Amino acid sequence: MRKGRSFAALLAIGCAVVLSGCSLADLCKPDPQVSMTDVHTIYKQNCAGCHGEQLQGVSGPDLKTVGAKYDNDQLKQLILKGSPNGMPAFQDKLNDAQVVRLVNMLANEK
Ligand code: HEC
Repeated sequence: MRKGRSFAALLAIGCAVVLSGCSLADLCKPDPQVSMTDVHTIYKQNCAGCHGEQLQGVSGPDLKTVGAKYDNDQLKQLILKGSPNGMPAFQDKLNDAQVVRLVNMLANEK
């Protein structure tokens, strides 16, 4: 009985320590990877090498009118799965929120 209680007390202390270790603001933050990287940074780090900083195209095609060519679903699949002609798959490199941001950006390029 006593043993059980002190274990519970220990647990409570443990939780208090963990909780005080990070402020409420930390707990409410969205995925830090996403909030700290805006879509232009995501694009620059992952896409600009092949598609150009201004979407003008380098080894990959220019993306300036890509929003007229594909709908959001198609853009998402393209980014996630890549394509056989040299577009790499990003499903293991970018999280869903990052892909959605890219899709929303590209959908406006028409
Ligand atoms: C290693 C080079 C490379 C990287 C990095 C790359 N792409 Fe591509 N991408 C290509 C190539 C090559 C194609 C053309 C593939 C094809 O025609 O099948 C392409 C095609 C596309 C298309 C379709 C264009 C069209 O007109 O049909 C989109 C959209 C696209 N890429 C978006 C992206 C995004 C967003 C990123 C970053 C997350 C990215 N790409 C990263 C090489 C790359």
